[in-house]
Amino acid sequence: MDKEFITWSDIYSVNIEEIDKQHKQLIDIINKLFNAFSEGKAEKIIPEILKELTDYTNYHFKTEEELFEKYNYPDTKVHKDRHSECVNQIEIWKEKYQKDITNIPYELMDYLKKWLLQHILKEDKSYSKFLIEKMK
Ligand SMILES: [Fe+2]
Repeated sequence: MDKEFITWSDIYSVNIEEIDKQHKQLIDIINKLFNAFSEGKAEKIIPEILKELTDYTNYHFKTEEELFEKYNYPDTKVHKDRHSECVNQIEIWKEKYQKDITNIPYELMDYLKKWLLQHILKEDKSYSKFLIEKMK
């Protein structure tokens, strides 16, 4: 039985349907990674899930950034920088993971959970009102 490492709650909603859908998908992928680690599926599945996480994260960030450009969101630069930090950090974890799988899971999962939830609650929530108004 799969456990939920991160549970979606309405407090994470930015009230933009497509973005909420993508955030839920990211949570699903992180939960899948958590379960793969827990079940010791390491060598086989984890590189695949890490790739899925990277691809989907890039796709999701692109969606947000395109909306920022389209509607001239004033905090675009700061927000994009936060996205780049996350992408770079995931690359660092992926490299570390290739060298040493023993200590990675807990730290990586902790990083992903904190980064995503804090990012949604802080930076993503900040664009919510602005974009909803523009998208009307
Ligand atoms: Fe974001």
